[in-house]
Amino acid sequence: MKTIIEPFKIKSVEPIRFTTPMEREDILLKAWYNPFMIHADDVLIDLLTDSGTSAMSAKQWSGIMDGDEAYAGSRSFFRFEKAVKNITGYKHVIPTHQGRAAEKILFTIVGGKGKFIPNNTHFDTTRENVEFSGADAVDFPTDEGKRPDFIGDFKGNMNIPALKAFIEATGASNIPLCMLTITNNSGGGQPVSMANIRETKKLLQGYGIPLFLDACRFAENAFFIKLREPGYADKPVIDIVREIFSYADGCTMSAKKDALVNMGGFLALNDDTLARNARNLLIVTEGFTTYGGLAGRDLEAIAQGLEEILDEHYLTYRLRSVAYLGEKIIAGGVPIVEPPGGHAIYLDAKRFVPHIPPDQYPGQSIVVELFRAGGIRSVEIGSVMFGKYDKSGKLISPPMELVRLAIPRRVYTQSHIDYVIEILLDVYSRRKELRGLRIVEEAPILRHFTAKFEKI
Ligand code: F0G
Repeated sequence: MKTIIEPFKIKSVEPIRFTTPMEREDILLKAWYNPFMIHADDVLIDLLTDSGTSAMSAKQWSGIMDGDEAYAGSRSFFRFEKAVKNITGYKHVIPTHQGRAAEKILFTIVGGKGKFIPNNTHFDTTRENVEFSGADAVDFPTDEGKRPDFIGDFKGNMNIPALKAFIEATGASNIPLCMLTITNNSGGGQPVSMANIRETKKLLQGYGIPLFLDACRFAENAFFIKLREPGYADKPVIDIVREIFSYADGCTMSAKKDALVNMGGFLALNDDTLARNARNLLIVTEGFTTYGGLAGRDLEAIAQGLEEILDEHYLTYRLRSVAYLGEKIIAGGVPIVEPPGGHAIYLDAKRFVPHIPPDQYPGQSIVVELFRAGGIRSVEIGSVMFGKYDKSGKLISPPMELVRLAIPRRVYTQSHIDYVIEILLDVYSRRKELRGLRIVEEAPILRHFTAKFEKI
């Protein structure tokens, strides 16, 4: 086996700024120890997110010049619509400015008080959009999916027996639709198997509940199926992708991930009435039906990205480069969610800094130290992001305390990643020195974006 190389050459570059640990102490203090409040210019390697951070291809950039900016009936819309239909097969394609706008429209229509939306694991914006409508967002990860040290092929799967019991107890009429997030971002970037998608659909069909995919990382999920699920090794990725979408009635998509663009998303679905209602809302909140919240040029770039993402050389490199980071730090003893996910490595903060209790935000303390030591920006996915308070004001923590190192698509080379590995191993060797943090100010929803912290 030869080294798997980046399947592209670099045509345009962007300098990154070097700072000293002393400078970074000051930067952290000014940002209240919240990575979302650090200026991007002060970051050396930015692993905050894989969303909207992809490097676009020369063909995507030429699509940007070629975009048709007509208000109605733009040529770029038709190219976009064709590209989305090519992979999903859905009848209606509704462009939105990003994934959460598609979620907002969908749940405004189907959500509301007394309704429940099940999911393998809701992403934070999905959860907020469900709950903002008055409905309840409920997660059904598998037991394996909740165990960071368990090595399994499809730890993103839906817990089907638990979902069934929930539907029986709640009543199908209170469940307007069920979501399945591929790959399961909040659950460690882990894939969902084809068998699980098929069985989830079969269960829901019996109750007349539609299935919607949260499809941001559909191509990475499809390639995991090709690599790991019996019967798929010789199937072209496009066929696997089409099979995935064929089991669902619609999807929300953030094009900022697997469509390789900096902005965009869509809602795609089969139901005519739902589509009509969605388009009416779209016109009020996003824009006319043939551009949604986007410019014609954005639609061109998405259409092109949706073709490029299916390149198997790209997907081989993509999954391998994330696994490379994971394997090197596992070898150094660093506890992560295993096996490595498709778009990110998730450090297991509970095992990394067992001396810091959840209410002192162990993940956040690692995030802070990775930045201080190496200028690397990561994000906590644990009690900061998902923590809630009980009536007495006590923190209710989620099952896992993680730190996500998300890898932007086509942006960093192997030596950038080697540097990240060096910093991680250094911070891990000094883990006993890390201290917790307390929150001094926070917003009532999505608090992780703006919360202010201080060191304990
Ligand atoms: N669903 C999932 C699974 C996501 O990961 C995201 C975004 C969204 C929906 C919302 O899409 O940002 O276009 O509105 N995830 C980003 C991340 C922000 O960093 O994981 P959006």
